[in-house]
Amino acid sequence: MPQYYTLGAIPHKRHTQFRKPDGSLYSEELFSTHGFSSVYSLIYHCYPPTFIKEVSEPYSVEPEIAYQRHLKHESFAGFSVSPADDYLESRKAVLVNSDVHLSLASPRKSLTNYFYKNADADEVIFIHEGEGVMKSLYGSLSFSYGDYVVIPRGTIYQLEFKNENNRMFIIESFSAIETPKRYRNAYGQFEEHAPYCERDIRKPVNLETHDEKGDFLVKIKKQGMMYEYTYATHPFDAIGWDGNHYPWIFSIHDFEPLTGRIHLPPPVHQTFEAHNFVVCSFVPRLFDYHPQSIPVPYNHSNVDSDEVLYYVDGDFMSRKSVSRGMITLHPGGIPHGPHPGTVEKSLGAKETKELAVMVDTFRPLHLTVDALKIKSDDYFKSWLN
Ligand SMILES: [Fe+2]
Repeated sequence: MPQYYTLGAIPHKRHTQFRKPDGSLYSEELFSTHGFSSVYSLIYHCYPPTFIKEVSEPYSVEPEIAYQRHLKHESFAGFSVSPADDYLESRKAVLVNSDVHLSLASPRKSLTNYFYKNADADEVIFIHEGEGVMKSLYGSLSFSYGDYVVIPRGTIYQLEFKNENNRMFIIESFSAIETPKRYRNAYGQFEEHAPYCERDIRKPVNLETHDEKGDFLVKIKKQGMMYEYTYATHPFDAIGWDGNHYPWIFSIHDFEPLTGRIHLPPPVHQTFEAHNFVVCSFVPRLFDYHPQSIPVPYNHSNVDSDEVLYYVDGDFMSRKSVSRGMITLHPGGIPHGPHPGTVEKSLGAKETKELAVMVDTFRPLHLTVDALKIKSDDYFKSWLN
């Protein structure tokens, strides 16, 4: 995250003595990325973040792949994923490759009896249903319907849900999630043409300092294995921090759509970028206004890109039989396009109410065993009807 931010108390100069009311020193931690050459934050802990009591034998949480190679249009009923009490158990990876894992989750209970750290990947948690608070040592973030909760790798967090009805689409990125570079000027500021800007980014608030000793379970995922660490001090013990590395939220409802006289391609919907994939937001917008325009997309072949759409709400203009939480996979190598009848139906229409998240990957995705459980039959034939 390129914007500098600070919460709580920090010393006037970095790497200098910073003392508690009792005269002892706070413990400074540099949390850096890409070695020392990308964004970082300086965190001031009540205790060193190194007080480890126990580490469990690790266990695998790697998704089970059903099809490594795949060339067929597929659809998946995302809301058919069964809810589970535990947040981590509720997460089901469905489409994966070495750049990104796409998961569905329907957790019933808050994540409060342990802490979680994904040391492998940045997480973007899209909130489809539910609301609550994400807590970390950087402070708290309140989330609700339509939020992209962006959690950089290495951030220890908990989630408190308001009720048991929660639906999430989770993008786990093995490279840094960034705002598109073409939206930002040389100083990192969003340019005027960008579909969102600094005011739309929500940053952590209400820093709570937990000056506590005891047994604190932190589940840490690294290289597809889960390690259960018992720390001797509370993970959220920061008195203050500053820097550019912290969790943040952008709401899909704050994405300002770009429209034109004739059809504009998906890059105008781009929201985030990472190595080898992009995330786009399709939001309610006015349709193309050329008198002869065809608002729905043309048939297209992205020969080297797998295209995943996660349908959120509203009528999706180019598809029939779409339900909330549904995922479609249109793999690179074969064309896809509007369903029969949708082109004619779109002519003269003034607007669309569609709301969807798209992930385009530049390497093929693999289908997991959990994906097969919610896969529809014969979606690839749906253009014939
Ligand atoms: Fe497409």
